[in-house]
Amino acid sequence: MPLSYDDSQRLKELYDVCRDHQHQMLGYPVSSDFDYHELWPFLQFAINNVGDWGEVSNYPLNSFAFEGDVIEYFCQLFHSDTDRSWGYVTNGGTEGNMYGCYLAREGFPDGVVYFSKDTHYSVMKIVRFLNIEYCEVASQANGELDYDALEAALNANPTKAPIIFANLGTTMLGAIDDLAQIQQRLQYAGFERDEYYLHADAAFHGLIIPYVDNPPQYSFADGIDSISVSGHKMLGSPIPCGIVLALKEHVDRVSHNIEYIAAADKTLTGSRNGLTPLFLWKFIRSSTEQEKRQRIQRCLALAEKTVQVLNDHKLPAWRNLNSNIVVVPKPSEQIWRKHYLAVAGDVAHIIVAPQTVSDDSRLTQVIDDLVSDKAKEEMAS
Ligand SMILES: Cc1ncc(COP(=O)(O)O)c(C=O)c1O
Repeated sequence: MPLSYDDSQRLKELYDVCRDHQHQMLGYPVSSDFDYHELWPFLQFAINNVGDWGEVSNYPLNSFAFEGDVIEYFCQLFHSDTDRSWGYVTNGGTEGNMYGCYLAREGFPDGVVYFSKDTHYSVMKIVRFLNIEYCEVASQANGELDYDALEAALNANPTKAPIIFANLGTTMLGAIDDLAQIQQRLQYAGFERDEYYLHADAAFHGLIIPYVDNPPQYSFADGIDSISVSGHKMLGSPIPCGIVLALKEHVDRVSHNIEYIAAADKTLTGSRNGLTPLFLWKFIRSSTEQEKRQRIQRCLALAEKTVQVLNDHKLPAWRNLNSNIVVVPKPSEQIWRKHYLAVAGDVAHIIVAPQTVSDDSRLTQVIDDLVSDKAKEEMAS
């Protein structure tokens, strides 16, 4: 039965909202420079990637081969390979973080999850779901973990295995925790390498850090056990998604053969999206590594320029190194709502994504509004 006129109108209204706002949300980590029209025909199929993409499923409508290509790309990006690591396409960063913590807990049932105060709010949900002990550690002013506070917390709990939830780019300030520092503090606290687990939350910056000059440590070669990246953030996808990678020795602990699907089950969910691997695959395949690097470098350059322009207007904007998140003093509610800026405490942020590089008119408006908002505030005080 076709939709009624009213229902069609409702869909049209939603379509108009999406079209008008697609490139305008400057406060949220979303790249919208994608064109996936070649994949539209796949929307007519009941694709389902249930199980492990590396096996032959008894459910033929799957995109396993493409998911495998995606995982291989991320393995290379994070200096591993499919012999040593396994991963899958998730529903987003939160699922990947939960998977990392799940693997950690299976290895260390009495472990304690350590994370900084600036960590994404999903971590609390995850430790509650998994019933893992946790310890929130102070952050530095730039949002990076306070390593002295971490060491003190580790020393206070010497008998329980640390599960470190490190940020490779925090949500609000784009701060990157220093893996070398973390490992050093673990060593100072008396933990050997096989006595702790290191998970990296790289939801947004996971697609940025590999493409910067002189990147900080972020990979399996630097000692991580697992990493989670969102696909709909810096990469860009119309459906939320992500990837998680972990060392095979950890994944093997949770793998079970399931007769019903004639495959091994290693994932958190049962049925899995078969379309999102195609979006990720298309992104990976339709530009060279050099072009991916340029895409990131352009965002970082415009973020730096934005900081400079705001500073020239005496607004104390700043950004962390290797981050396209521009942090500004929180403006009036009228301004942060008008431009969909994310706010926390006394700051707001602007995210410079590829669509803003292509058309910076909205960014220019935001800058103008921040400057006049500050002038108004000064006049009033
Ligand atoms: C640092 C960080 N971790 C995790 C998440 C959660 O990711 P998702 O929304 O893809 O589940 C976010 C989302 O903004 C984030 O910024």
